[in-house]
Amino acid sequence: MITTKNQTPSRRTIPLTASGLRLAGICLAAGLATAHATEIGQELAVPRHLQDGEEYTVPLPTLISHGRDLFAALWTVEEGGGRPLTKGVGTPLADESEPLLFPRNFNRISAPDSNGCAGCHNAPYGTPGGGGDIVGNVFVLAQRFDCATFDPDDTIPTKGAVDENGDLVTLDTIANSRATLGMFGSGYYEMLARQITADLQAIRDADTLLNAPHFGSLFSSFVTMEIRKLYGHACLPWDGHHWCTPAGSGVDLVLPVGGRLVPIEIHHTASVAPQHFRGLKAFRKLFGELAPTGVLVTMAPRLEAVGDGIIHVPLGLLLGGA
Ligand code: HEC
Repeated sequence: MITTKNQTPSRRTIPLTASGLRLAGICLAAGLATAHATEIGQELAVPRHLQDGEEYTVPLPTLISHGRDLFAALWTVEEGGGRPLTKGVGTPLADESEPLLFPRNFNRISAPDSNGCAGCHNAPYGTPGGGGDIVGNVFVLAQRFDCATFDPDDTIPTKGAVDENGDLVTLDTIANSRATLGMFGSGYYEMLARQITADLQAIRDADTLLNAPHFGSLFSSFVTMEIRKLYGHACLPWDGHHWCTPAGSGVDLVLPVGGRLVPIEIHHTASVAPQHFRGLKAFRKLFGELAPTGVLVTMAPRLEAVGDGIIHVPLGLLLGGA
């Protein structure tokens, strides 16, 4: 039996027998096989990638953890690591006769200089997406060289030692040393921002917006907020209410004013029709003398009485415009 020092009786002990060892060996082998279920010579850091569109269907925690896996992966040559004929700026090498193959496959100055993102973005505590130690600094602009060598015999511009003008570069002039910054979660925010942008662009033309199913309630919320602002400007306490009946009658806003109630109905229409103040009529009928005046707010241009005790106020007038 293996026991640890100061062991309490309840602590688990591991029987060290021949069969126990074999079992441990089998478990270890099985574990390794599941962790790296690839053939020797075909090692993959990420054996399974999300397919296009799958990001919309997998649960969010799975998506985020997959992002972490991609960020922390140490990419292998088998899955495309390295860029033998391409500079870090994406253009072909200045001298394709010397591809970036071992030992030119990594270069701390002109890159590639890591097997994965978390090689640099890992601080604090090895957290993927974090900042980096000074050893993770990037030499920005040096990636326009094939492979920095500073070899004075090399005269091919941007191959390893001379710049675009044919001048020899030094460690000081080849690049700017830049610190690795932390950007926890910004990929997620970026995707969210793109999704919001796509949604907004989809409704950016007026017709789509006006015909959107929630436009009516958005419009009345907007007008309500504008009225609320007027209260704010006048330093009046806000005491707005909403009224509706189980039968479906309703007004968007009820304001107590001087011991009375002023019901307000809001419609996005350019011409007033009786159905636009049906709720106001129902409210006035119910509350009688307590609600002598109802207000209808629409896009129609004229300030006028539209029914018994019901005044139409154009939105423009309410907002202080035309
Ligand atoms: C060799 C170190 C290193 C590696 C590897 C690395 N980065 Fe960076 N990263 C940096 C440095 C340094 C900066 C800042 C660059 C600058 O200031 O010009 C940076 C900046 C960024 C930024 C910009 C953040 C901002 O707020 O502008 C993003 C995003 C980023 N890296 C993502 C990644 C991803 C994704 C990977 C893997 C595909 C990766 N990085 C691999 C060092 C590295």
